[in-house]
Amino acid sequence: MLFLDKETRERLWTRVTQALEDYAEEVEKGRVTPQLEPGRIRDLLEPFDFSKPHDPLAAVDFIVEGLHEYQTHTPHPRYYGLFNPAPTTMGVAADSLVAGFNPQLAAWSHSPFAIEMERHLVASFAERFGYRPEQAEGTFATGGAEANHTAVLTALTRAFPEYLRHGVKSLRAQPVLYISSEGHDSLAKAARMCGLGTEAVREIAVDSSLRMSTDLLRQQIQEDLEEGFAPFLIVATAGTTGAGTIDPLPELVEIAAGEGIWLHVDAAWGGAAVLVPELGAALEGIEQSDSITFDAHKWLSVPMGAGLYLTRHPQILERTFKVAADYMPKEAADLDVTDPYAVTMQWSRRFIGLKVFLSLAVAGWQGYEEAIRHQTAMGNELRQELGSHGWRVVNETPLPVVCFVDRTRPNGDSPEFLDQISRTIVDAGEAWISTARLGAHGTALRACITNFRTGSEDIAALVSALNRARSSLPSPTTSDS
Ligand SMILES: Cc1ncc(COP(=O)(O)O)c(C=O)c1O
Repeated sequence: MLFLDKETRERLWTRVTQALEDYAEEVEKGRVTPQLEPGRIRDLLEPFDFSKPHDPLAAVDFIVEGLHEYQTHTPHPRYYGLFNPAPTTMGVAADSLVAGFNPQLAAWSHSPFAIEMERHLVASFAERFGYRPEQAEGTFATGGAEANHTAVLTALTRAFPEYLRHGVKSLRAQPVLYISSEGHDSLAKAARMCGLGTEAVREIAVDSSLRMSTDLLRQQIQEDLEEGFAPFLIVATAGTTGAGTIDPLPELVEIAAGEGIWLHVDAAWGGAAVLVPELGAALEGIEQSDSITFDAHKWLSVPMGAGLYLTRHPQILERTFKVAADYMPKEAADLDVTDPYAVTMQWSRRFIGLKVFLSLAVAGWQGYEEAIRHQTAMGNELRQELGSHGWRVVNETPLPVVCFVDRTRPNGDSPEFLDQISRTIVDAGEAWISTARLGAHGTALRACITNFRTGSEDIAALVSALNRARSSLPSPTTSDS
């Protein structure tokens, strides 16, 4: 039963591809959001006690139905969400091939084609970010959180080589890292997982544009040095999760260089802007960073998860991760190639790069440039539509994430009121939007154009859903300030 007969396999593949095709074609016709019914879902799963085998086609049908019914449909063009796009067609094909061929990317000799393909991609992306491709190194990761964790580890390795053998307890001073209050919380997790603890994360307040305040950063570094802490890492964010803002990279480059601190740019979503000339200027300075996080499963729209960690420091990954493993294949040593298990956090690893390679091979840089430009234009259209319907946009970014409050009513920035608006829309299944807390700007509704298929009609539908939700609610009584 583990390997099905040829006839059943053929019927199964047909059923699976039909389900994928139906979903790609039909997703936009349905609700964006599911009913949240944990009890009902558990009841549906109850008959699967695995005491007797199920028919393979019936089992697949059961799953397809469950996913249709109980999923926030991130591939829906009215999902204005958390950087989760519709998957590229080639990405879906790639992940199916990866599952079938199941290459093992721990050792080079097990998957030479796959590993060289990922190396080729690392060099290509490094070049697009302005690193010298012959010097840059990198690794695919499950996502941005793993790539950011890798950044903390590599920065620690460079600053405190003794940490590799003796751990943080051996260090004379407590290492500290800096990130803006709008930066991603995966850095706090990484600090915890590296044994630094979350207090090692210095959260730097943002300016009125929600970008890291470089004055406060300078001040905090000086205070830390005077108090005997050891600053080792600045994390700049290029495209914050809440408001899509970009920290002042050139100034951060200067501060990091002046203090001898590693500069990591978390460009998990916003990094795609470098592929479009008129947006890329906003990321100027990224080429001088020490490392970059970039998620292809965000704005490059490949299926999850496809994170990428890039660095311009050769050998730092090997210094960070290599351990002796006698049982592993040894051919790499004679071939001038690298075993991924020796330069990454993971050991056995899935072939992450194929979905990126096939998507890029078919779309080309130009195809991506067009998609990113389209989504940016839709973001601008949304800003305009909101403005002409009594909403006030509160964030400044060239990227298509739009944060806004109601300006037609007193206290139209009340968090409860904004939450109710987003819940009304989400509960009705019309779209998915959310609220975000943006420092001194308070709370705002947040809509991100995550989907390359989102068009003007979807923008109009969102604005009219917002207008309807607003007028269905009683006036807010308190504001956010
Ligand atoms: C700026 C930023 N960095 C890192 C992450 C974490 O990425 P992932 O969810 O792929 O681990 C996110 C997630 O949205 C993000 O927005």
